[in-house]
Amino acid sequence: MLRLAAIVPRLDLPVPVSLFIIYSVCLTPVLFLLYNELAGRRTRSRQPRGCRKLGLKSFSNLADEHQYSTNGVKSRSKDGTEGEKKIKVKALISYPIKSCAGVEFNFADGTNTGLMYDRQFAFAEYIETTAKNDDGKKAVAGRWDCRTLRDGKFSKMALIRPEIWVPDPSSPTYSPKAPEVRSKGVLVINFPRTGTGLFTKLGMKLNLCSREESFQVPLFPPDGEYSSIPMRIFSDTPNAYNYSTHIPSSLGAFLGSTKPLSLFRFDPEHPRPVRGNAPTEADLGFKPTMGFPDEYPLQMQNLASIRSMAEKVKYAIPKFTVRRFRPNIVLEGLEAYDEDDWKKMRIVPGPESRVMPSSSSDDKKGVDILVACRTVRCRLPNVDPDTGERHQVEPDKTLKAMRNIDAGADKSGCLGMMLVPVSQKFTIHVGDEVEVLERGEHFYIKE
Ligand SMILES: *[C@@H]1O[C@H](CO)[C@@H](O)[C@H](O)[C@H]1NC(C)=O
Repeated sequence: MLRLAAIVPRLDLPVPVSLFIIYSVCLTPVLFLLYNELAGRRTRSRQPRGCRKLGLKSFSNLADEHQYSTNGVKSRSKDGTEGEKKIKVKALISYPIKSCAGVEFNFADGTNTGLMYDRQFAFAEYIETTAKNDDGKKAVAGRWDCRTLRDGKFSKMALIRPEIWVPDPSSPTYSPKAPEVRSKGVLVINFPRTGTGLFTKLGMKLNLCSREESFQVPLFPPDGEYSSIPMRIFSDTPNAYNYSTHIPSSLGAFLGSTKPLSLFRFDPEHPRPVRGNAPTEADLGFKPTMGFPDEYPLQMQNLASIRSMAEKVKYAIPKFTVRRFRPNIVLEGLEAYDEDDWKKMRIVPGPESRVMPSSSSDDKKGVDILVACRTVRCRLPNVDPDTGERHQVEPDKTLKAMRNIDAGADKSGCLGMMLVPVSQKFTIHVGDEVEVLERGEHFYIKE
């Protein structure tokens, strides 16, 4: 520093210029440190105390989903040597909040209601209705209606990004009495910042304030702290925990909702029945139920089928991702549409997955899964999961034209299969091998 001050005047620079040089040299490191400190503090403030985040971090098992040779999507192998290649689990995804972004796993525990943490939460709007009282007078009543990506104006839900955090006794900030620990973890909910002023915009550019806003809710409602009230979801109205107190008003603004908005948490005391093509209680040994999926506990997609579709729709959608179909299990190693006639399958740990750590020790024998029916597609896959924008025609048009394969599905297209696990406790790993135990006819029954 001293040496520099001594050198600068010798260069015969005007005083303001020398001062400027001295200031920049001294001040830059200070500003840099300050910047790092502020950016670091922002990251830390978003980490719930005493918890660790579940799921894959900055990595996806689907990263190579667009890398394939087009002859890999032909529907049957030429020489008839089927079954040469092993069918494997390529990716596992849970969607903690219905219609919002997913969380990917390398292994996931499951129960008869589906993968752990899948569709345990749902957003709803309060709809006022006028009803007549007993005395004939008009009274204002209302109900909470679940909102999904299907609702035209809610396609931005795709950009809401939940994170699952669970208590971690090895964390330096862990305390058994912390609210984050009492609720057995928290769901951190991130969504894009809207309505930004000049300073926020600048802050976002400099990474000093996040491009996203976040809030958190209990993963499990502590006893007696939330009321379980009716929420309508399709034809069901189960009771669920009302988390509306946590919703920031900016979320409603982001979604473009003008009505009261709430987040509901599935109440295990009020599960929804699986209907339609569901196996019977006699088949399973228990009644098939679920939280907030559309119709069945699990949905499966075959990457080869998606790639075959991608070839058909690439004129409209150049990078067509399997994530548009919101599957829980993505398979690879089978021909396109081979899954269409599966009736029963078994997922067993393969050589790769056997070395993976997992939470339960008796999961090495695998799990049997009933393939209840095909997934009848609505227009939801038209929404791009990365932008929240809805394509006007695709893939809906191609699905209806090419995949109208189920006599029970009317004029709709089918892609993927709906599954009901036979076990009430199991673990699936990426790399697990899949055996097809039974094939047969499918006829979709609307619930
Ligand atoms: C839902 O929770 C909010 C906030 O705690 C409360 O104001 C509202 O009355 C609750 N709704 C019902 C129907 O209980």
